[in-house]
Amino acid sequence: MNTRLSPRLKLLGILTAFLGPALAAVSEEQPDAKEKWAAPAGEARKRNPVAINESSLAAGQKIYLKRCVACHGKTGNGDGPDAVDLGIHPAKLSDPGLREEADGALFWKITVGKKPMPNYGTRLSPTDRWNVINYLRTLARR
Ligand code: HEC
Repeated sequence: MNTRLSPRLKLLGILTAFLGPALAAVSEEQPDAKEKWAAPAGEARKRNPVAINESSLAAGQKIYLKRCVACHGKTGNGDGPDAVDLGIHPAKLSDPGLREEADGALFWKITVGKKPMPNYGTRLSPTDRWNVINYLRTLARR
């Protein structure tokens, strides 16, 4: 039996060993713009620890109006002033389809961001990210 690897296979092995982790690290930070943006299953299962009540919704609304409205628009229609100026298409947070996205999935997306949307992992505390998710739930049309 021939146990020697062909040079081509060896090269492939070396490339995957070095590039694999590097590529994985890059894609975790900023997912590829061409793919549909989906949260990893494990992240989507994460439970929202913040109860929906008046104070959470008020905190979430404050954050939304300060940080998100420029792109996503006041009612979540994706028609904020920056969206118009930059010619970008922010997700419609008012879309009833958003109901199918788990809180954990939204949490992950808000945490990591996706160009041109900033990541809020360091800009907002975890509690504030859950607060803004609680508020987003009030924007989705029935
Ligand atoms: C600079 C503009 C910009 C800002 C500011 C911004 N977003 Fe976004 N957001 C986007 C764009 C563009 C997308 C669509 C990304 C894609 O799918 O390619 C998006 C997508 C999303 C999604 C995913 C929706 C889905 O259907 O998967 C959520 C949730 C979201 N944004 C929440 C927020 C929240 C909460 C804030 C404020 C804390 C915020 N965004 C601030 C531009 C922005």
